[in-house]
Amino acid sequence: MKEALKIAIIGYGKMGHEIEKHALAAGHEIACIVDNEDDWNQFPGEAQVAIEFTTPDTAVNNIFRCFDASIPVVSGTTGWHNRLPEVSMICLAKNQTLLYASNFSLGVNIFFEINRRLTALLAPFKDYQPGISETHHTQKIDAPSGTAIVLANEIIDQDQRFNSWKLKEQKNLETEIPIESMRLDQVPGTHVVTWNGPADSIEIKHTAHNRSGFAQGALLAAQWVWQKKGIFTMKDLLNL
Ligand SMILES: NC(=O)c1ccc[n+]([C@@H]2O[C@H](COP(=O)([O-])OP(=O)(O)OC[C@H]3O[C@@H](n4cnc5c(N)ncnc54)[C@H](O)[C@@H]3O)[C@@H](O)[C@H]2O)c1
Repeated sequence: MKEALKIAIIGYGKMGHEIEKHALAAGHEIACIVDNEDDWNQFPGEAQVAIEFTTPDTAVNNIFRCFDASIPVVSGTTGWHNRLPEVSMICLAKNQTLLYASNFSLGVNIFFEINRRLTALLAPFKDYQPGISETHHTQKIDAPSGTAIVLANEIIDQDQRFNSWKLKEQKNLETEIPIESMRLDQVPGTHVVTWNGPADSIEIKHTAHNRSGFAQGALLAAQWVWQKKGIFTMKDLLNL
């Protein structure tokens, strides 16, 4: 086992509970659990690193509180990445540590790499039209998922035809990548990228069977990042 850490769990919902379970099984200690405004009184306790899975509206403020306490933070919350420029600037100005990811599972990060490769292969063939669909449980607040946005942005980066993504109903296929978001009971997260051509189609799919891959990835990230300074993603950790 790697070094045992004292971890602050920020957000004690579905992911917070999953992280606690895997952290204890791996020999880490839980220094404190913060699940609402009042609980912040206990923060940081003896924590060496914080793992934050909360809500799109509170994530940025939660991350700032970790910066103010000089506690490195691993954030898995989605739906706030439009504020990354501001958060990055403050992180660097205060010499703090943030590792963020819209998806911590190893499989999804490999899937991102396959998506980049597939886009590079298909971009010259204009008959193929990309589309993304994502399915999650009904309590998920943001749509489309942060993972679907990463997939779309990586296609946009490599295929000059496209300059934005849109939720499916509003799409303009000339320049926009359509994303379909579905919400079904109990689904931890499924993502499909399809390239439709006149003669055939190519589809890549990632299915999370449960939340353990997210929790294990976040714990791996905490061990990797807690003694570093700066802003990191799973690409840095996995050397992708
Ligand atoms: N990056 C990934 O791999 C990954 C995987 C799964 C979920 N997520 C994302 O993580 C987030 C949380 O997911 P979840 O399924 O655990 O949600 P959840 O609703 O089950 O839990 C969120 C928890 O945050 C708490 N919370 C709200 N405001 C808070 C605050 N100011 N301070 C501390 N705690 C606060 C709530 O009380 C709640 O218990 C979502 O944005 C989700 O999309 C990311």
